[in-house]
Amino acid sequence: MRDLKILFDNNQKWVERKTGENADYFKNSAGQQDPLYLWIGCSDSRVPANEIVGLEPGELFVCRNVANVFPHTDFNCLSVLEYAVSILNVKHVIVCGHYGCGGVKAAMEDNHLGLVDNWLRHIRDVYAAHRKELEAIHDQKKRYERLVQLNVLRQVLNICHTTIVQEAWARKQKVSVHGWVYSMETGKLEDLNCCYSASDQLESIYKLKIE
Ligand code: CO
Repeated sequence: MRDLKILFDNNQKWVERKTGENADYFKNSAGQQDPLYLWIGCSDSRVPANEIVGLEPGELFVCRNVANVFPHTDFNCLSVLEYAVSILNVKHVIVCGHYGCGGVKAAMEDNHLGLVDNWLRHIRDVYAAHRKELEAIHDQKKRYERLVQLNVLRQVLNICHTTIVQEAWARKQKVSVHGWVYSMETGKLEDLNCCYSASDQLESIYKLKIE
């Protein structure tokens, strides 16, 4: 247990620091959360969502999993999205991938890792859909970085295609879905400039006629 004690010690110091800056810090943040943003990111410990964008508790709703995948049938992802959009009324949904993502790398290789291979299948599908573009990139690192970007773009669309986002748009709720990539080497975010905020931006096969 000794290796966990440090976490409680850190927690104690954090509480002291926060209440030192503002005596009511916890009283305030324990009130209703009111985040403007939902972050879909990778579980990677080097990509700490709140810290990267400088937000406090209560300001960012977060869902993280291996390689920031948003499968349209995954109840964890769908439940997070529904709560964020329908109840918390977030204005922006951000899918943030990162260069150097181990999950994306594994999806480009043929090693048998076990159960996670089934999860990474979603990224293999992205690769297969963009094989021509990817295999025209001869530099391995650049090809890998492009797959990181394409995976983000795919997950952005998966989110837009959900009933949750389409129903929000149908009731004129303002919510946009964005794709970003984080560089662990520089600490900087890159906007992939894909921003969806209305159903007329969607391919017709995915568009639902919502009364
Ligand atoms: Co990752």
